[in-house]
Amino acid sequence: MSDRYLSSAEIRNRFLAHFEGRGHTVVPSASLLLDDPNLLFVNAGMVPFKPYFLGQETPPYRRATSVQKCVRTLDIEEVGKTTRHGTFFQMNGNFSFGDYFKEGAIQYAWELITGDQASGGLGFEPDKIWVTVLPEDDEARQLWKQVAGLPDERIQPRGLKDNYWNMGVPGPGGPCSEIYIDRGPEYGPDGGPDADEDRFLEIWNLVFMQEELSAVRAKDDFDIAGPLPSKNIDTGMGLERVAYLLQGKQNLYEIDSVFPVIEKAMELSGKKYGATGSDAHLDDVRFRVVADHVRSSLMLIGDGVTPGNEGRGYVLRRLLRRAVRNMRLLGYQDPALPELLPISRDKMGESYPELVSGWDRIAQVAYAEEEAFRKTLQAGTQIFDLAAGEVKQSGATTISGDKAFALHDTYGFPIDLTLEMASEAGLTVDEPGFRELMSEQRARAKADAKAKKGHHADTGVYRDILDANGPTEWLAYETLETESRPLALLREGAPVRALGTGEVGELVLDRTPFYAESGGQVADAGVIEFAGGKVEVLDVQRPVRGLVVHQVRVVDGELPADARELHAQVDPQWRTGARQAHSGTHIIHAALREVLGPTALQSGSYNRPGYLRLDFGWLSALSPEQVHEIEQVANNALRADLPVGWQYMTLGEARDWGALALFGETYDDQKVRVVEIGGPWSRELCGGTHVDHSSQVGTIVVTGEASVGSGNRRIEALTGIEGFSYLARERDVVGQLSTLLKTQPDDIVGRVGDLVDRLKQTEKEIEKIRLQQLLAGGAALAEGATDVNGVRLVAQRLDGAGGGDVRTLATDVRARLGGDTPAAVVLIGAADGKAAVVAALNDAAQARGLAAGDLVRAAVPFLDGKGGGKADLAQGGGTDVSRIDEALAAVTAAVASA
Ligand code: ALA
Repeated sequence: MSDRYLSSAEIRNRFLAHFEGRGHTVVPSASLLLDDPNLLFVNAGMVPFKPYFLGQETPPYRRATSVQKCVRTLDIEEVGKTTRHGTFFQMNGNFSFGDYFKEGAIQYAWELITGDQASGGLGFEPDKIWVTVLPEDDEARQLWKQVAGLPDERIQPRGLKDNYWNMGVPGPGGPCSEIYIDRGPEYGPDGGPDADEDRFLEIWNLVFMQEELSAVRAKDDFDIAGPLPSKNIDTGMGLERVAYLLQGKQNLYEIDSVFPVIEKAMELSGKKYGATGSDAHLDDVRFRVVADHVRSSLMLIGDGVTPGNEGRGYVLRRLLRRAVRNMRLLGYQDPALPELLPISRDKMGESYPELVSGWDRIAQVAYAEEEAFRKTLQAGTQIFDLAAGEVKQSGATTISGDKAFALHDTYGFPIDLTLEMASEAGLTVDEPGFRELMSEQRARAKADAKAKKGHHADTGVYRDILDANGPTEWLAYETLETESRPLALLREGAPVRALGTGEVGELVLDRTPFYAESGGQVADAGVIEFAGGKVEVLDVQRPVRGLVVHQVRVVDGELPADARELHAQVDPQWRTGARQAHSGTHIIHAALREVLGPTALQSGSYNRPGYLRLDFGWLSALSPEQVHEIEQVANNALRADLPVGWQYMTLGEARDWGALALFGETYDDQKVRVVEIGGPWSRELCGGTHVDHSSQVGTIVVTGEASVGSGNRRIEALTGIEGFSYLARERDVVGQLSTLLKTQPDDIVGRVGDLVDRLKQTEKEIEKIRLQQLLAGGAALAEGATDVNGVRLVAQRLDGAGGGDVRTLATDVRARLGGDTPAAVVLIGAADGKAAVVAALNDAAQARGLAAGDLVRAAVPFLDGKGGGKADLAQGGGTDVSRIDEALAAVTAAVASA
C-alpha cells in the first residue's frame, strides 16, 4: 500500500510541515479542557477555533494547522471490542478562515496523501483512494475529478448523515467530503465506503464550514440559523488511523505509540496478545482496553483532570478503574499503573512535553486512584460475591436494583463495574431499578442545590437577554459602585414588571461592580438602590458566559423593571474580607507547596470573607509540625508585605511563567489572567479579587486539616479580622482556664495533665473502696442466711447496685456460705430504673436438684425481663424495679418447693 513505515511522530510532523509550507500557522494543541459549556472534552480539531468560524473573534491568521488532542468517551464500552474505537486520539487538521475553500482543501489533501514519501508525502496509492460527497454537492464532485483525477465510480454520494458535519450541538457546520483508503478484499466486500467501512477506512474528513446551526437533534436533523460570515475549511485526519495503515497494523492499539503498553501488560500478566484459544479474544479486548485507557488517563490528568464522581472527573475515574480491573482480569493483581503509565508517558511525552514536566503530579494522582480502587474492590467484591451467590442460590439471574445501588452508594462501586462483574458471573442487573434509585437521589441533591441557589436550570431566558443586550459591563476589578440601568427583571425564571417588598427575583444590569461567584470566590454582597427603595443582593452568578445576574430581595419599596438610575453598591467591608480570603488562599497554596513540595497541587478551593479552604492532592495526613510550618510560611509571606499584581497573557505564556492553573475553570477571554504574589513565589490563573499587597490579608490562622476523599486533603483557615477574633477567643479561654487553675498560661498544659493524672488515680481509689464496702456487706448477707427446705438461702435486694456488683457480691456470699450444706444466693439489684438478678449455688445445692437458672427464671417475670444461665451461676435483668420483693418471694417459694 505504501512503501515505507512511518512513525506516529513522523506522520504528525509531515502533516504540519505540509501545511506550514502552504502558508498555515502551526498552532499547538489546546488543552483537552477548553471552556465550552456543551463539551466535556475537546473532541475535534476545530473546537479551539470555534469563535473564529462563528465570527465572534477575529483570527490572528487566515490559515492554521494543528494536531489536536481529542477525547471521545461515548463509546467507552466499545473500546477494544471493535478496532475503530479509541477514547483518546489525535486529530490532524488544517483550517481556513474565509481564505481558501473547497478547491484548496481538496488539492492540499490530495497532495499530502498521495505525495511521494521521499518528498514528505504519505505515499498512499491514488487508485486505493475513495471519497464521498453530498449528493447535491456537484462542485465537490467536479473538483475531485479535476484536481485529483478521481474516476466517478470512486466518488460516492452519501446523504446528510455521513456528509454533513456538525458539532452535535449548536455551532458551525457544513457539507463535508470524506477520504477513504481501500485496505483490500481480505477486509471485506467490494463496493466502496457505502458497502463496508472496515475495508474502506475513513482517514480524513474535509468540512466545508459555511453555516451556523441553531439546533441539532440528529446528524441529519438540525436547524440552520444562517450562513457564517465567511466560507471556511475545517478538516480532521485521524492520526492513529493513518498510523496503523502506514505501519502495516490491524488497528490503532497496535501502533507505535500504543502497543508498548500492551507489551508491558503481556510481560506482567504472562498472557499473550493475539493468542489463539477460547479466551484469546476476551484477553485481546482486555489488552486493548488497558492500552487505550492508560493513555487517555495520562492525557486527561496531564491537562489537570482529577478523579471524581461527576463530569470529567468521573470519566477519568472510570478509565483508570477499567484499566486496573482489566489488568486483574488478565491475572495481574499488583498495582498496575506504576508499571504501565510511565511507558505511555515515554511514548507521548515527545509530542506533549507537559506530560514530562508534570509527571510527578500525574503519577501521584493516578497511583492514588488505583490504591483507592484496590481498597474499594476488596470491600465491594465480597459484598458483590455474596449478592451474586444469593441470587444464584435462589435460582434467579438478576441482581436487584437495591443491591446495585447499595454497592454504588456504600462501596463506591460504579454501576458499570457491577454490570461488568454481573455479566462475568452470568447474571444481569435490574438496571432500571438502579437508575430509579439514582435519580431519586439526584432529585434530592438537585432540590438541595436549588434551595440554595434559587437559579433556573434553563439558560434560554438568559441567552435571550444576552442576545438582546450584549455582555454585562463587568467592573468588579475597577470599582465598588456604579450607576446602572436594569436590562431585565425576572421572578422564577420569567420576566416580571416589578418586584414588591420582600420578594426575591433576578436583576440584570447594563453594568455592575458585583463580583459573580467563580474560581472558588463567593459572590459579593451589597445593595442596589432605586428611586423609592432598595434591594439587597443575595447572590451573583453568570449563568451564561458574559451575563451577570443578581439575585435580589426587595427590602424597601417596589422595584419596577424599568427603574431609572439604579445605584449598585458592593458592601466595601465584605469585599475587603473577600479579597483577604482569596489572596490568603493563594498564599496558603504557595506555602503548602513550599513545605510539601511541588506535587501538592490545588484540586479545589472556596473562599468567603474571613474563611478559606483549599483542597489539594496529597496521600497522607499532614503532621502537626507540617501544618504549623505551612501556617508559619504563610504568615511570613504576609509580614514580608509582598506585592500582589495581575496581568493578562496567553495560556502558553502563563505556562512558561510557571503559573498554576486549575484547568476547566471559566476564563472569559482567549487571554488568561495571572495573579502573582511576590513575583514567582505565587502565580496562578485566577479571575478573583485580591489585596494589593500581602500584609493586607492581616493574618492567616489554620484551623483544620482533614481528608476529603481518596488522595485529597483539605486545609481550612481564617483570614483578616476573623483570624484575629479566633485567636482572641482562644486567648479568652486560656485566660479563664488560667484563673480557674490559678496558674500562668504557659503552665496550663502541665497543670491540666497533673489534674487528669490525679483524677484517674482518685477514680481508681474510689473503685477500690467501693469494692471493699460491697464485700464488707457480703459478710452481713451471709450471716442473714435462712434455712429453707434444708438449703441455706440468701435472697436479698440491693438498692443502688448494678449487674457487675450484684454478681461479684453473689459469688462472694456463696463462698462465705461454704460447701458443706446446700447454699443458694439470689440477689436483685436496682439501679437507674433497671433490675439485675444473679443466682449463685454451691455444689451441694445443685446436688439437691436446684439450678441457678431456674431461680433466675422464677424471678424475672416480676421484673419484666429475662435471663438464665447454668446450674451454678445465672443472671438476668428487667426494666421493672417495683416488684423486686415479689420476685424474691417467688425465689424463696421455688427453693421451698424443690
Ligand atoms: N471537524 C471535523 C471532524 O471532526 C473535521 O470530523
